[in-house]
Amino acid sequence: MVGLKINLVEGVLMTDIFLDTASIKEIDKFLSWGIGTGVTTNQKIFLKEKGCNFEERAKKILERVYPLPVSLEGPNNYDDLVETAKEYSGWSDKNYSIYNNIVIKVPMLGNGEGLKAVKTLSQIGIKTNVTACMTLNQAFLAASAGATYVSLFYNRMQDWKLEQIKDEDLPDISKEILAKQYACNTIIETMNMLRISDFDTELIVGSIRKPSDIEEILSCAPDIITIPPGILDEMPFNTKTESTLKEFDKAWQEFKKYEK
Ligand code: E4P
Repeated sequence: MVGLKINLVEGVLMTDIFLDTASIKEIDKFLSWGIGTGVTTNQKIFLKEKGCNFEERAKKILERVYPLPVSLEGPNNYDDLVETAKEYSGWSDKNYSIYNNIVIKVPMLGNGEGLKAVKTLSQIGIKTNVTACMTLNQAFLAASAGATYVSLFYNRMQDWKLEQIKDEDLPDISKEILAKQYACNTIIETMNMLRISDFDTELIVGSIRKPSDIEEILSCAPDIITIPPGILDEMPFNTKTESTLKEFDKAWQEFKKYEK
């Protein structure tokens, strides 16, 4: 794999798993597996839950996983972002307790309005997750503005790199390797930037499409990987594990036949 890295700055390798879903059923399932130290959502994830009421579902998730952090996506301009963030952060349960595990997802807007929102929100104590970042520069700006989390999108970073090199005279496989190297190096460089500069920001890596993505990302040692339910479901399964377990079970049945 490209750029295998140990976090030399802290000397610790520890990647948390967040659940990239708005489904209560899926959240409950993975929590029961002991998996999940936070939840991330976005508009496409909520679309999968269509028919539900946004505020009700968001509150249910906030309650279900409390005190673990839950990222809820905000709108695409400064004024609406700040207003929405204040509104969501004012939500309370039946006992009038504020959900202080709420994190507002702030889009990395090209005009800088997202960064301005991060600055405003961090000053009033609202946690933020700057989302849809594709470059080290974007992650650096998000951390500098005071983001609690910055999200790099693993597969979308590769899509972007592939678009940039599509006309280059290289075999497709080389282009794919270059794109993967770009995504992995950006994760490694972002982690080093965050730790060397001593930012309080944590790196979340999202945009996961297959189980092998996780193994590649783990070698880059980000703080957090946010994983969709379908991928988590696939991760425990291995054909060799299955046949090994069958072989052991057969031996056990045989042993039991002769047991005194
Ligand atoms: C992360 O916070 C995002 O919700 C998500 O991982 C984006 O992934 P996608 O590229 O599959 O849309």
